[in-house]
Amino acid sequence: MQSRLLIVYHSHGWRTEALASAAMAGAQTCLEIEVHCQRAAATSVDDLLAAHGYLFATPECFGGMSGMLKDLFERAYYPIGDRLAGRPYACVVVAGQDGQGAVQGIERIARGLGLKKVQEASIVPSDQIELNRQNCEELGATLAFGLTSGLF
Ligand SMILES: Cc1cc2nc3c(=O)[nH]c(=O)nc-3n(C[C@H](O)[C@H](O)[C@H](O)COP(=O)(O)O)c2cc1C
Repeated sequence: MQSRLLIVYHSHGWRTEALASAAMAGAQTCLEIEVHCQRAAATSVDDLLAAHGYLFATPECFGGMSGMLKDLFERAYYPIGDRLAGRPYACVVVAGQDGQGAVQGIERIARGLGLKKVQEASIVPSDQIELNRQNCEELGATLAFGLTSGLF
């Protein structure tokens, strides 16, 4: 069965979406992976269950992850239970000033789901999107090759 990487993001503007797209482009350099990149609001419990690894991308909003990503976790938490346990994930947070609150929120929920953090969170200042496109491409590629090689 082909490995599937799910990139889930929310963006009020364009910045987080641009980095999610960069991560998708990087992941697609791995020919063995199936990559899905979609908004959190359009993501279902079944989408989460069907993937083998995850990249969560969000702007920081009011000191935490965006409400739309939190809504996905709220919708999914009880239905999923422990069925994602052991699967790898990473996250990207775009922030005007801080970003730590969003990272902490995602990591706390990911721990609750039993997900395995395979990269330290990337916090990208909102005025440094262009500088970080390549990093996000590399992150997407790392997740893809890690999944398909069995490294994770
Ligand atoms: C409603 C709102 C709340 C925000 N709260 C924070 C915050 O708590 N900390 C921070 O560093 N940036 C905050 N920001 C700035 C965004 O994180 C930043 O503009 C980000 O680049 C937006 O990404 P996007 O273009 O993908 O929507 C906030 C922005 C908005 C619109």
